[in-house]
Formats: sequence, C-alpha cells, structure tokens
Amino acid sequence: MRSFNGRDILSLKEFERNEFFHVFDVAQKMEPIARARKNVDLLKEKTLVTAFYQPSTRTRLAHESAMHRLGGHVTGFSDAKMTRAGDFYQESIKDTVKMLEYYGDVIVMRHFQQGAPHEAAKWASIPIINGGDGWGEHPTQILTDLYTVLREKGRIDGLKWLAVGDMRMRTMHSLGYALSQFDCPITFVSPPDMALTDDFKQELKQYSVDFKEVDHVEMAIADADVILVEPVVQPDYSKSRDERTGDLNLTPANYRITRELLEAKAKSDAILLHSLPRMDEVPLDVDITRWSRYWQEAANGVVMRMALLALVLGAME
Ligand code: CP
Repeated sequence: MRSFNGRDILSLKEFERNEFFHVFDVAQKMEPIARARKNVDLLKEKTLVTAFYQPSTRTRLAHESAMHRLGGHVTGFSDAKMTRAGDFYQESIKDTVKMLEYYGDVIVMRHFQQGAPHEAAKWASIPIINGGDGWGEHPTQILTDLYTVLREKGRIDGLKWLAVGDMRMRTMHSLGYALSQFDCPITFVSPPDMALTDDFKQELKQYSVDFKEVDHVEMAIADADVILVEPVVQPDYSKSRDERTGDLNLTPANYRITRELLEAKAKSDAILLHSLPRMDEVPLDVDITRWSRYWQEAANGVVMRMALLALVLGAME
C-alpha cells in the first residue's frame, strides 16, 4: 500500500480498496478521542491552513475541530474576498499556495473551480486536502459516509445503495469512484437535467461499478440498505457564492425521502445518510426515525478528518 505520509487527498478515483480500510482503521483509533471530547498532542507541532473560496459549515469546521482534537494549530481564511485572491489582484492559485505552504504543514482547500486543489497540489510542497472543488469531488465527505456505513452496518460489501439528488454534485462523483472498490450495487435517482453525465457514466462502466438509474425513489427504496440523499434545490457549485433570491421551488416527490415513504417501503434496518445542508428533501420529522444517521455522519466527519490529518502528516502509519 502507498504511504499516506505527505500525500494529497484530491480524489477517490486514486483510492485502492486496502487504502479505504486502512483509513477506516485509523479513524476507529481516533474515535475514542473525539467521543471523549479530549484533545491529545499527536499533532502538537503541526498547523493546518484552511483555504476556503466557497461557503462551508461542516467541512471547514470539522477539519479545524479535528486539528484541535489532535493538539495542532489552525490558520487560514473562510472568505477569499478578504484575501488578495478575491480582490483587485485575483491572485492565482499558484501564488497563493506558494505563500500558504510556509504558514502551515497541510492545506485543506474548497474552491468553486473544479480542479483547483489539483492545481494547488502541483505547486505546494505540503499535502493538499480537497474540501470540495466545484462540481468535481468531495473525497473527505464520502470517506466519512463510508466510515459511517461501516460503523452502523458492520460492513460495506454486499450492501445496496440508493443515491438521490443532483448527480452533478461532487459527492456523487466521489461516491461513484469509491464504490468501484466495493461490492455495492447502486441506483441513482435524479431530475433529468441533473442526471449523471455521459462521461461520468462511461467512467463508472470503466471502473465496473454496478449502477442503474430510475425516475422515482419509490422504484428503488425497498431494496436499499443505504440511502444517500442530496438536495435537488441547491446553489450553483461553480460560483464562489450563490445568494438565495426570491422564492424557492419545492423538491418533487420523486426525490424526497419522507417518514411515510420510509415506513411504507424502506427496509427496517436501512440507514439514511445526508451530508447536509438540506432543503425539504428530508423533512425534519425523519430525524428521530430509526433510519436517520446524519448526526452520526456529522460526528464521524470530525473522526475522519482526524484520521486523514494524522495520516498525511505522518503521525500515523
Ligand atoms: N457536507 C458539506 O460539505 O457541508 P459544508 O458545505 O457545510 O462544508
């Protein structure tokens, strides 16, 4: 297995099966620290730089929290408009990263341009973690989701997935690549204008992913062991900011996971994931049903980032 020490985490396309399980093993070692709300000194000599060119609640703060839990330091920006990259100069990724690499030991970057973290990794002498790039990928979120499945179901292989939402989403791309390493058939449900692109479908076939597409969640939910939902009412991920204006559309029934639907059709032991934020696709009354696991997913988001930071900074082998 390739070492994680010094490695960039840009895409799950690059991940091998044994690497997934190694990351999950390290995450499980980190879990007691997070659960006990303790801070240890594993990364006390290290600093995380956050470079967020797009809004985030979970990804940025989970990385920051993970670094604090491991005794490390954090610096960075959450609003590029207050940096030279977001003002008159429009400073390039290269010039920005050539500064940031002296301010810390690892960079987590979210960017509205697909491939921006890959560009950063070309120039940085320290590891780059992709915190979401445009419509590209969101590898740390899907590692979190797979870890949540493993912890909640005790296995990943042999489980059937249902993924609902906008298939242009970066999470869906990372999910498709990740499932190529597991025995997990997946059914995708999306509005026609948010369907899997032909290029991505070609890639899924090339990676031997067992997938199909249907029009309505009712056609697939009964078979699913894992239901992963993303909004279909959402901003343009290729913009640095997309402010809400006017009234929003409601999510059509085809893409909603309601309590009534779960009660009527879902397997009793299926689990429901949502990386959040949500709109109306998962109503609030689903939160206290036995299917929901998104709060566990949130907790695991810190655990997974602890594992990744410890690995890429060489504190865990
Ligand atoms: N799931 C996720 O990426 O959330 P944020 O946009 O809040 O980071």
